[in-house]
Amino acid sequence: MRVEVWLCLLHLCLALLRVIARSEGKEYNRYDFPTDFVFGASTSAYQVEGAALEDGRKPSIYDTFAHRLEYDTGNPDVACDQYHKYKEDVQLMVETGLDAYRFSISWSRLIPDGRGAINPKGLRFYNNLINELISHGIEPHVTLLHTDLPQVLEDEYRGFLNPKIIEDFTSYADVCFREFGDRVRHWTTFNEANIFVFGGYDVGNTPPSRCSFPFGFINCTKGNSTTEPYIAAHHILLAHGYAVKLYKDKYKAKQHGLIGFNLLSYHFAPFTDTREDMLAGQRSYDFFMGWFMHPLTYGDYPEIMKKNAGTRIPTFTKNESKLLKGSIDFIGINYYTAIVVKDNSMSLNTTPRDYIADMATQWLFFNTSALSEKTIFPNEPLSLERVLKYYKDVYENPIIFIHENGQAASYNTSTDDSFRVEYIRDHVESLHNAVRNGSNAKGYFVWSLLDVYELLFGFDYTFGIYYVDYNDPNLTRHPKLSQQWYSQFLKGRNTTADIQMNQAKDTTISTRSSI
Ligand code: NOJ
Repeated sequence: MRVEVWLCLLHLCLALLRVIARSEGKEYNRYDFPTDFVFGASTSAYQVEGAALEDGRKPSIYDTFAHRLEYDTGNPDVACDQYHKYKEDVQLMVETGLDAYRFSISWSRLIPDGRGAINPKGLRFYNNLINELISHGIEPHVTLLHTDLPQVLEDEYRGFLNPKIIEDFTSYADVCFREFGDRVRHWTTFNEANIFVFGGYDVGNTPPSRCSFPFGFINCTKGNSTTEPYIAAHHILLAHGYAVKLYKDKYKAKQHGLIGFNLLSYHFAPFTDTREDMLAGQRSYDFFMGWFMHPLTYGDYPEIMKKNAGTRIPTFTKNESKLLKGSIDFIGINYYTAIVVKDNSMSLNTTPRDYIADMATQWLFFNTSALSEKTIFPNEPLSLERVLKYYKDVYENPIIFIHENGQAASYNTSTDDSFRVEYIRDHVESLHNAVRNGSNAKGYFVWSLLDVYELLFGFDYTFGIYYVDYNDPNLTRHPKLSQQWYSQFLKGRNTTADIQMNQAKDTTISTRSSI
């Protein structure tokens, strides 16, 4: 056989070995991704900053929500104290090798009364944080609203239930673009808009905790689950649209930034392959992500939502529809798991109906008894590929940033989170497959950089790749195994979970006995 043929065969064998090794989670690093692909970590203002009532900041609806609960460890008003420790935290990002940091601005720190005067100390903090990031080569990806609407606007006019929010949000965005836009290239108007309205106005288990009997997951004292989720969503969309218009008219030519939106995204897997369950899967996609993605891409709500919610879902004027259509430069996706769905068309015969009844679908969440076990989410990386394919096929292959992905586990002092290494590694690999199959994904952010105060779990279950010792007055940060894995991956070293696990086995924190 000729030498060329042998060489060709050798190359083929090596390529095959590489594929096999990769499918076993071996020989894999960031250089397998396109060169402009960004890797980072995420947090949000109230969950990480602390200094809740310091230097002129006033409360948000997130503060109000958190104060109703009591925690054995940690204090949400102090959280990780990033307000004072931002330089230290930027060092952790450098040590990990992050390209970018996704964080949010606390509206009530920057503009304590929701509108009007800017708080100079709030302004200084965000300038300092952004400058610190940039001077260390870390790109700021900034979210304008991550759950924490100023409480004053909720008290004054019921926040997102009132169209006045559109003007106030746009003015707040204006301040952010004007003050920080010379250094910030990636803006997201709203974090998890779908969860904000579903949790906040239908079932009541997230701020501002509104719901009405019999729909609440908690006993709400105010709200109307049949109408309010639709109204709040409508105003969020319009507030986004006007903020984007302002950016494009006033800043884009000079600042060259991109503006996106963010949604919690599940893959909805039909329980059976019956026509009914398959349609339930499609309805779930339409109600959960399509609720926002349809208007942002096509200028109107999905047909099925208009049909099932009837007059309870507001309509867009022609101008509003035009404003929204094509108003995202990218979509931020928070992906954690898949959900199995079953048809529940019977719910359409009931009155009154909330958003869930309108969806006419039963969601089979992962086993809720998992809360008493170590981790929260089943590791289903293939479903991430399916979600990305759905966005590609249905929403014109938008630019995507995976803004959040990670694994929650009961807060404890062991830094050996090998289950998290596996979860992150498998999802990054799945993301890589999606990119190779044509997804326009451009970045991945692990949730979360630190063990932050969690939206649904307080300090009981955390996601951090750095452990934060809440029993230590210094709130000392300690790298977990997942940080080591991510760091190796980002530094281009081919990683296997096993090698790293052995290295970190004994790094249990000395304060263990105090928790
Ligand atoms: C959703 C939210 O964006 C964030 O605030 C929350 O803590 C994480 N994902 C985990 O649930």
